[in-house]
Amino acid sequence: MLRGPPRLLKVSVAPVAALAVALLSSLSRCSLLEPDDPAASALSPYFGTKTRYEDANPGLLPDPEAPRRDPELLEDACTPVQLVALIRHGTRYPTAKQIRKLRQLHGLLQARPSGDGRAGPAGGRDLGAALADWPLWYADWMDGQLVEKGRQDMRQLALRLASLFPALFSLENYGRLRLVTSSKHRCVDSGAAFLQGLWEHYHPGLPPPDVADMECGPPRINDKLMRFFDHCEKFLTEVEKNATALYHVEAFKTGPEMQNILKKVAATLQVPVNNLNADLIQVAFFTCSFDLAIKGVKSPWCDVFDIDDAKVLEYLNDLKQYWKRGYGYTINSRSSCTLFQDIFQHLDKAIEQKQRTLEVLL
Ligand SMILES: *[C@@H]1O[C@H](CO)[C@@H](O)[C@H](O)[C@H]1NC(C)=O
Repeated sequence: MLRGPPRLLKVSVAPVAALAVALLSSLSRCSLLEPDDPAASALSPYFGTKTRYEDANPGLLPDPEAPRRDPELLEDACTPVQLVALIRHGTRYPTAKQIRKLRQLHGLLQARPSGDGRAGPAGGRDLGAALADWPLWYADWMDGQLVEKGRQDMRQLALRLASLFPALFSLENYGRLRLVTSSKHRCVDSGAAFLQGLWEHYHPGLPPPDVADMECGPPRINDKLMRFFDHCEKFLTEVEKNATALYHVEAFKTGPEMQNILKKVAATLQVPVNNLNADLIQVAFFTCSFDLAIKGVKSPWCDVFDIDDAKVLEYLNDLKQYWKRGYGYTINSRSSCTLFQDIFQHLDKAIEQKQRTLEVLL
């Protein structure tokens, strides 16, 4: 039986988004069987596109390298001919834009009139002072780059896929593997980490070499394929560069639900409400997620919001993704046709090759 060359694609569909999209009910974390996970907060189920992969898939926690399905079951039911995987990048730093907003917020906290800090409101804990003292450890150079945890995400994903499809990932197929990535740093680095994970699969115990020295070669950059949205004129004109395309998002940012949060946060942090806006609040919310995902620490930013706030901020992010990447405008999905055409052509070719081999055998 001929197995077509496994082909792996690497993509960043939403360049502003950090982590997995799927959400998780907080119930599974309460289960006694789950190890106590210090990197989760009550807000974790509401981080949307900034959700930690472990929160979307709690099975990763006990053994991140073990496949979640029984490989034998899969091989019995059907014969894998080719694998095409469209993979998002691993955990990353905030973007420079997010870091600038966080710094702005930090400046507001440090400039508070009660800036001597320690003396909080009567008897209560002064969260504003705690946050003003909380070190701002994000720097501009980090600008959305892959973090060490993100390299692990990719390495472990490669090991899980290789164990799940042992026949496809046979040693003889190794050299036929192709990896395509966008030119985004975090995606190129994710691709390299993925290939290093595979190297471990083929050479257990050996330290992986530089990707340039691997049998399959380094990830190939193809932005036209992987960042199709950047190359679609209609999308650029009607959505990306159109100041009014996200008018529903703008309306929600100034609507009553957000105004309530602005007032609440201004009172909690003791800063003037006029100095706050929805963007700053959203960055504060995601900072809780970034600190958890990257550093594994629960920062005081997580204490600024309750579950009701989290639901509003989750909705704000969903709304933005809906209009910018999702179903809001037809062109959003249509811009991906070139990528899907490429995928289907490779699948068709693999099937054709397999049939031809069978004919020769007959
Ligand atoms: C910008 O978006 C609005 C709202 O969808 C739409 O009415 C308008 O035609 C768009 N402008 C361009 C130049 O496509």
